[in-house]
Amino acid sequence: MKKILFFFLLLGSQLISRADEGMWMPLLISQNYDAMQRLGLKLTPEQIYDINKSSLKDAIVHFGAGCTGEIISDKALVLTNHHCGYDAITKLSSVSNNFLMNGFMAKTQAEELPCPGLTVKFLVRIEDVTDRVKNFIGNAYGKEVETKFEEIAKSITKEVNQENVFESDVKSFYAGNKYYLFVYQKFTDIRLVSAPPENLGKFGGDTDNWMWPRHTCDFSMFRVYSNNDNKPAAYSINNRPYSPKHHLPVSLKGVQENDYAMIMGYPGRTTRYLTSYGVDLATSVSNPTLVKIRDKRLSIMREEMEKDMAVDLQYASSYAGLANYWKYFIGQTEQLKNLRIYEKKQKEEDEFNDWVKANDKDLKKLMPDYQKAYAEYTPYAKHATFYREAFLASALARLGAGFENIDKAYNAGVSDDSLETLCKKLIPFRKSVLNNVFIPLDKKVFSALNLMYYQDVSKAQHPSIFNDIFEDYGSEDWKKTFDDFTEDLYESTALLDSEKFVNLCNAEYIGKLLKDPAIKYALNVVRNYKDNYEAKTNQFGYEMFELNRAYQGALLEKNKNKLMYPDANSTMRVSYGKVSAYTPKDAVSFKYYTLADGLLEKYKAGDKEFDLQPKIVDLLKKRDYGDYADKNLGGLVTCFITNNDITGGNSGSPVMNGNGELIGCAFDGNWEAMSGDVAFDTRFKRTICADARYIMWVVDKVLGGHHLLDEMTIRN
Ligand code: ARG
Repeated sequence: MKKILFFFLLLGSQLISRADEGMWMPLLISQNYDAMQRLGLKLTPEQIYDINKSSLKDAIVHFGAGCTGEIISDKALVLTNHHCGYDAITKLSSVSNNFLMNGFMAKTQAEELPCPGLTVKFLVRIEDVTDRVKNFIGNAYGKEVETKFEEIAKSITKEVNQENVFESDVKSFYAGNKYYLFVYQKFTDIRLVSAPPENLGKFGGDTDNWMWPRHTCDFSMFRVYSNNDNKPAAYSINNRPYSPKHHLPVSLKGVQENDYAMIMGYPGRTTRYLTSYGVDLATSVSNPTLVKIRDKRLSIMREEMEKDMAVDLQYASSYAGLANYWKYFIGQTEQLKNLRIYEKKQKEEDEFNDWVKANDKDLKKLMPDYQKAYAEYTPYAKHATFYREAFLASALARLGAGFENIDKAYNAGVSDDSLETLCKKLIPFRKSVLNNVFIPLDKKVFSALNLMYYQDVSKAQHPSIFNDIFEDYGSEDWKKTFDDFTEDLYESTALLDSEKFVNLCNAEYIGKLLKDPAIKYALNVVRNYKDNYEAKTNQFGYEMFELNRAYQGALLEKNKNKLMYPDANSTMRVSYGKVSAYTPKDAVSFKYYTLADGLLEKYKAGDKEFDLQPKIVDLLKKRDYGDYADKNLGGLVTCFITNNDITGGNSGSPVMNGNGELIGCAFDGNWEAMSGDVAFDTRFKRTICADARYIMWVVDKVLGGHHLLDEMTIRN
């Protein structure tokens, strides 16, 4: 009896200590309800997602282009990550008024700063539209699937869209096996309320990024404004804070190991059903290529940014974005290898093939077809990465590439009027491409990445302009060749001179304009790539769509008695799990939380990544934690980890306890599980969260924003 009990206890604890894989659809969350309750959820499924009554989903927003935020007051105060607000904060900053560096706190609503271009979307409802979409697509193949999907999606969304009220989207799930409609309410008057100084919001910089243990206070706060009818409206001084259907109470009770943790948000992209062939391409070609290109680009950016504070501000946001995924792909490659994901995938494919045989399915050729498609595409994969990451890295090349249509029109002999119309459209385009560009930096990137393109992309695939460059500038020293070419190009092009450019933009001179050296260079690279290689990338994409649809469709059938979650696709998902420590390697164990003491341990005065303002150092040295210290742990908890399943796009997501109260803000993943988007490893995969008490300590004690706490619903 005792033995049996022991056996069950063991089994039970294994189940419970399992990390919780799966990004579930809120619409179907009742399917997971038992498991969630067992872990400690106290809410009903309707309290999570309901389209009639207010529910948690009404407090979770899609923030900006690719993040999550949550509503934490009845005046629509939004909490998200600092790295999600980073671009907006940077744009509001100047050398003399540097909110990025110093932080920001609006003392009153009147001081909140409008952020043009920033949007916040609330989810209104989700509908299954699989039959309609599938019937319409029928047996279409390749490009036609894309066209037909766009057509039906357009007609479905047209039925629900209403200007300034609803905006909607049809999304594919399980690689085209299911389709859902998402209806949103989109707000455009969003204002900055508060941000920590960068050396807290990004404490540890790229060194600590994607790593645990962590001490970053990665948060910022915004507010959603509406018109007097509580509806979305363009910015106006007469707008008022939106009245949300639901806001999350903030718990200052703290977390303990094994506490229930639930995360809702907008995970962007995972490829959990990627085959071993895909893993091989990523580790051997795509990832190392991207990393090598970005390594160079980032080091050039750094060099120029360090010289001049204004340039630093100009490039801070794009630098952070590039560096984030530079390190991501280093980590992903390392862990795909370490955790033997290729072998793991092969095993899954063998199992799949056994199932195919046993059930006599017409899918015996599926895996060989994958293999064939990858083998055919592999020789061109590097070129695709170079085109996107290296050629298009410089603003001048992007600008030159923008002349593709007018060049085509010119060669087709269209009328002077149409040519002129096309050219006039390029005037604002030029302005936007060159906005915030520092030419000396752009020039260095241009030269260095062209050299790398020349050296790394197979010679047979080179654009002919490389020959011309060597004819005119050839030297033993290839770097010199490209530097000289670049120098002349930037000197002689009319594109960088607004007046010259506008003058050339009339019918009489367009022929001359198209001979501009920067346009000639860019269009030569564009044409070479598009005429010869882009079709291969597209064809590969269509084949992957067909194969993935078949594979995931079969997996749905194979797993019909189990729950199978769809890959992330920037739609709202629910992940549940618990607060959980881990063991990164033999003899090393990581706690589930970090303390503010660690901030002082890592602190390095004057360092780019580990500096802290004197005022903060002072508060920390005095251990002045206000009401936010953890009584049991004897300090201020800064960050904690859970075993939730999240990915990029979840940044800023609320971490909630069993009562749906906010306990933290999710902001990162950990190094040992960097292969997580391809395969979830239950031993290592963790979500890194800023503790709600750490955030409130910074708001209150560092930024003097106690008034913000007064508008929240605090649970002590
Ligand atoms: N790795 C984090 C994410 O993708 C972003 C962290 C931003 N911080 C930084 N040092 N770049 O969600």
